[in-house]
Amino acid sequence: MADPIIISTWSFGKRSHDAVWPALIDGASSLDTVEKVCRIAEDDPAIDSVGYGGRPDREGRMTLDGCIMLQPRQCGAVACVRRHRHPVSIARQVMERTDHVMLVGPLADDFADACDMPAEPMLSPEAKAAFDARARGAAGPPPAPMDNPSGALFPDEEPWRNHDTIGTLCIDQRGTLAGACSTSGMAWKVPGRVGDSPIIGHGLYVRPGVGAATGTGTGELVMGECGAFLAVERMALGDTPTEACVAVVQRIVDAGPLEPHETVAMIALAADGTWGSASIRPGYRTSIKSLTQDDARTAHRVLLDS
Ligand code: GLY
Repeated sequence: MADPIIISTWSFGKRSHDAVWPALIDGASSLDTVEKVCRIAEDDPAIDSVGYGGRPDREGRMTLDGCIMLQPRQCGAVACVRRHRHPVSIARQVMERTDHVMLVGPLADDFADACDMPAEPMLSPEAKAAFDARARGAAGPPPAPMDNPSGALFPDEEPWRNHDTIGTLCIDQRGTLAGACSTSGMAWKVPGRVGDSPIIGHGLYVRPGVGAATGTGTGELVMGECGAFLAVERMALGDTPTEACVAVVQRIVDAGPLEPHETVAMIALAADGTWGSASIRPGYRTSIKSLTQDDARTAHRVLLDS
């Protein structure tokens, strides 16, 4: 029997971990676990970059992206979902009920309808207020604290607000790896924009027997390097999870100058249960829950000072 472990991007993953842990140690599958981790974040109006709390595009319309993966022949993804709050669950239905990997736009919503998934309100009052304030040219209300109502736990996560993702990786008691990813994408994006998160090999990759990787940050940068696939390939070639994550973020940094708002963090979980992370900039944390760890910790390696 394997020791179960879950890692997720950002400290807000910790809330989801606490909720799914009892079932995971009671034998729940890694696939069910990663779906549930994302669903909890997708429902949380305090998380301003995923699901219901996410910020809309520049026209004020919410579009959501997500994917889920067990192995290269078992993965599903959706992008630009407009009426359903749980892209991760639609992605799972794509994986389990179709011969395809990815559905996009209104037809992905239609597929969710056909799977009896309810359409739900997509834009939280906070997100609507932020959009309205932006449209008026005002700074808008202060964003809800990302981590807890006091906002005091992890104030150094502040710089990345409005641009992140929940990516989650899990090994269950049977030793099965799974991963999932969910995002509302870049705040105020050009309508139709899709980032790395729902793209298999970019925002998420899982190779049984080797490991899994996912990331958060500026999707366009991750897509330029096939980030999650690259991290898993590096583990296949012998890198530790942290070395694999460093390889991805280092390539992004080496590829050219970054805008001040651009950044990426990667996390990786090897099939043996070891895990690692790397971030281009400070201010990022990974949530980790296992039999011996229950934490939200800063990246193992951070490449730049700010
Ligand atoms: N990493 C999420 C996005 O760029 O959409």
